Amino acid sequence: MKQVYIETLGCQMNKSDTERMLGILSHFGYTQTQDEKTADLLMINTCSIRQLSEDKAFSKIGSWGKRKKENKNIKIGFCGCVAQQKSKELFKRAPYVDFVLGTHAIYKLPEIIKRVEFGEKVCECTETPAAGQDFEIKRVKSVNAWIPITEGCNNFCTYCIVPYTRGRERSRPPGVILKEAREALAQGFKEITLLGQNVDSYCAQDYRLADLLRDLNKLDGKFRIRFVTSYPSDITDELIKTAVELDKVCEYFHIPMQSGSNEVLKAMNRRYTAEAYAEICAKIRKTVPDVTITSDFIAGFPGETEEQFQETLSAMEELELDYSNTAAYSPREKTTAAKWTDRFLPEKVKTERLARLNEQNKKNCLKSNQKFTGRTMEVLVENFYNHKGKNVVTGRTRNNKIVHIPSETDLTGEFITVKITNARTWYLNGEIKS
Ligand code: SAH
Ligand code: SF4
Ligand code: F3S
Repeated sequence: MKQVYIETLGCQMNKSDTERMLGILSHFGYTQTQDEKTADLLMINTCSIRQLSEDKAFSKIGSWGKRKKENKNIKIGFCGCVAQQKSKELFKRAPYVDFVLGTHAIYKLPEIIKRVEFGEKVCECTETPAAGQDFEIKRVKSVNAWIPITEGCNNFCTYCIVPYTRGRERSRPPGVILKEAREALAQGFKEITLLGQNVDSYCAQDYRLADLLRDLNKLDGKFRIRFVTSYPSDITDELIKTAVELDKVCEYFHIPMQSGSNEVLKAMNRRYTAEAYAEICAKIRKTVPDVTITSDFIAGFPGETEEQFQETLSAMEELELDYSNTAAYSPREKTTAAKWTDRFLPEKVKTERLARLNEQNKKNCLKSNQKFTGRTMEVLVENFYNHKGKNVVTGRTRNNKIVHIPSETDLTGEFITVKITNARTWYLNGEIKS
């Protein structure tokens, strides 16, 4: 058997793709290794959402290039979103790369590997996605199984590269999703997370996300269901009602707002106003008890004024968003906003706004966590480890709060009842309730 090492950067969609690549490779003589030094095949699954993510990919692949000088037999594959975007160009920048594999052609991996083993350089970055491909998956051992339900995106937010790296939105057939869920549950997974850039626009003929949730909820056994990411204006009343009615669907919504200013939202080509976003949050909070609502925000979008940025800070505070991913605006090739160079803000301004956004985010997180001190909650255990001489398990509540709990035994994969003893900014502490 040969050994493959895959480094995954980027979102859960990329992590899910890596699991599919490992599944395919396992049939062609490759086992996975966690040690890049012993691998025969090195692959990097890249992300291009921001310049920083792209730079990370090039720095990693550079170190592999040096290794290849010492051992000519190593093969190197450049995959994922940066590959899809840059295609053949990558051979110029990194001549030691043996193959470039975009996001649409994972199923061609066996053929690619064969050609590469014969010394060929291969580039597979087709523009059109493979329809209805069904791959075996080698899931990372954990309690949570990711299942993509939609791929690609049609929204073309002016800052975002995803529509260019992942293509137009496709919804996978319900039958395939339900089959993958059944298989994951049979393997012992306790949580199913449905993935998509806009999960709430899932549509297979007339079958929507709420229908899928109902069918998944009927599957036997105790497990949890989550879905990410929701596009604010695509969340329907029916979806909220269904999510609260179904016992396995967790009290958790990830709904990126991006900005609190209507002018900026418009320039971003987001199809909602700050008021509409606030209304959706209010509706969810009213209907779903203890719900966690998380968000994403961009600081320093081209042309963003100090006043507009303050609207973002106020929105984060007033809506009591439980946690937010934050980033400074990063211009991306091909996107509309990247052409507005005359409106770009200085790096210093973007960094300073990002720091203020992070400060507000921290306050929100602590306030959100403090609500749960003294409460009894169900935790699904994900990890067992030794911290400063003490054994601890870590898991998440239904509403996605991380909890650390002292425990002498490894309870990974079990649902336990926990009393929350205190709240920190990023997590809760608890003790097992007997
Ligand atoms: N589909 C999701 C988000 C996917 S990308 C949605 O529509 O909300 C994840 C996050 O990366 C985005 O929510 C955005 O906040 C951030 N992001 C995307 N492009 C970016 C860019 N050019 N600069 C900075 N942040 C960006
Ligand atoms: Fe990017 Fe917008 Fe699509 Fe999200 S909805 S993936 S931010 S284009
Ligand atoms: Fe990055 Fe591609 Fe995901 S650009 S965020 S890995 S879809």
